[in-house]
Amino acid sequence: MSVVIENLKEAIKGESNAKRKYQWYAQKARDEDLPEIAHIFEAISSAEAIHIKNHIRALNVSTNKEIDIKEFIDVNEEILKDKVKDTKSNLIDAITGETYETKQMYKNFLKNSQKVGNEVAELSFQLARKAEKVHANIFNDYLKKLEKNESINKLKIYVCQICGNVEFGAPPSICPICDHSQKFFEEI
Ligand SMILES: [Fe+2]
Ligand SMILES: [Fe+2]
Repeated sequence: MSVVIENLKEAIKGESNAKRKYQWYAQKARDEDLPEIAHIFEAISSAEAIHIKNHIRALNVSTNKEIDIKEFIDVNEEILKDKVKDTKSNLIDAITGETYETKQMYKNFLKNSQKVGNEVAELSFQLARKAEKVHANIFNDYLKKLEKNESINKLKIYVCQICGNVEFGAPPSICPICDHSQKFFEEI
């Protein structure tokens, strides 16, 4: 079980850094007069907060105690600020991070949780992995538009408060990732 606990801690740390980093990237996009890109960074930052919440719950269940996340979360503001570049580079960095999480990190963590039969951790990793794939695709789409100098439509953005899925325009009747109803979507 201890590998899964370490995996949950690593995931919480990674998501906490991503959440904060995207807030900095949103600020940079606003400075560059790219409000729709700022909006998506803010929305996806809030989606990472859902993953943090789910992983913390899984960690508490797995260890049977209330873990103080301050013990192992270290969000270094200076290091994160140093990562902020122009918005195009920030999008590329975000795509790299989300792709790593989908194709490597969560893929491995998922296998580890299945191996020991930790279903709570398995569900948390599974939901996060699927949502990160959506995030990577959205960032990719925005990057292409930015590269082509295409304008990005101002759309309402909704985040599923159960799994961190992101939808545009209107929330779907059922979340395609976690199967929860529309009412769990929040406009960001
Ligand atoms: Fe993500
Ligand atoms: Fe969902």
